[in-house]
Amino acid sequence: MIHCGNIIIAEDAKRLAVAGAELFRRHARRSIERSGRFAAAISGGSTPRSMHRLLARHPYVTEISWERVHLFWVDERLVSADDPASNYGAAKMDFLNAVSIPADQVHPMTSEKSPPEAAADYRRKLETCIGGGADRLPRFDLVFLGIGPDGHTASVFPQDPTAEATDLPVVAVKGGNPNVFRLTLSMPVLNRAACAVFIVSGAGKAQIVKNLLAGEASQLPAARVLPVSGRLIWLLDRDAADTLLNFSHFSSL
Ligand code: 6PG
Repeated sequence: MIHCGNIIIAEDAKRLAVAGAELFRRHARRSIERSGRFAAAISGGSTPRSMHRLLARHPYVTEISWERVHLFWVDERLVSADDPASNYGAAKMDFLNAVSIPADQVHPMTSEKSPPEAAADYRRKLETCIGGGADRLPRFDLVFLGIGPDGHTASVFPQDPTAEATDLPVVAVKGGNPNVFRLTLSMPVLNRAACAVFIVSGAGKAQIVKNLLAGEASQLPAARVLPVSGRLIWLLDRDAADTLLNFSHFSSL
């Protein structure tokens, strides 16, 4: 494992998943000690699934105080929970059915309503569960984010200002792959998090990771995840960090 500032590089995807699960456990323990609860938001896509599956196993399934965890989503495709594209459906399969988190502390974004109504419902859910409101955005203890090769994160897509030029914590958008209606946490609420973690795996992400960390992609959404009073951690596997490691500016890694 290479640690350099806020960049952590795991040898491979398996060790990346372990590092992610350890981060989840550490932040859960710290938040629960401090405030009695842990409010986390997870992303969809394929990268975090190995980490999620680890959370369903020892030591995480027993050592995390799941009864104190409030789980939210960073984004969701507005499909039914049994649709293979559902981020909630994947998480349910990967760990939610195995851990002892109270059902009323699992907050999926799934909805049968229209996208704008679904977004309004989730905003109310956030306000009820972790605070925030008309003039204050909710603050997550930890958000896990993926990055697409195009530099999107959550469902904040390049050339779509919906989720950035807003003071709302949740908005409805359409885009991505699959190109469907989605809900996403907005950039302002991502940047209000106490800790945001990019978890990135695979050679297919190596170029975008290098461009972002070398400051060569400032116009892309992932480059604008800059927690105002929180931490940003880059959790990469060696394949995703490959171009970075060969970039002179980071040769010290
Ligand atoms: C989504 C995700 C999305 C994802 C990235 C990376 O619901 O589509 O939240 O933002 O994190 O596209 O996806 P992979 O991990 O599959 O590469």
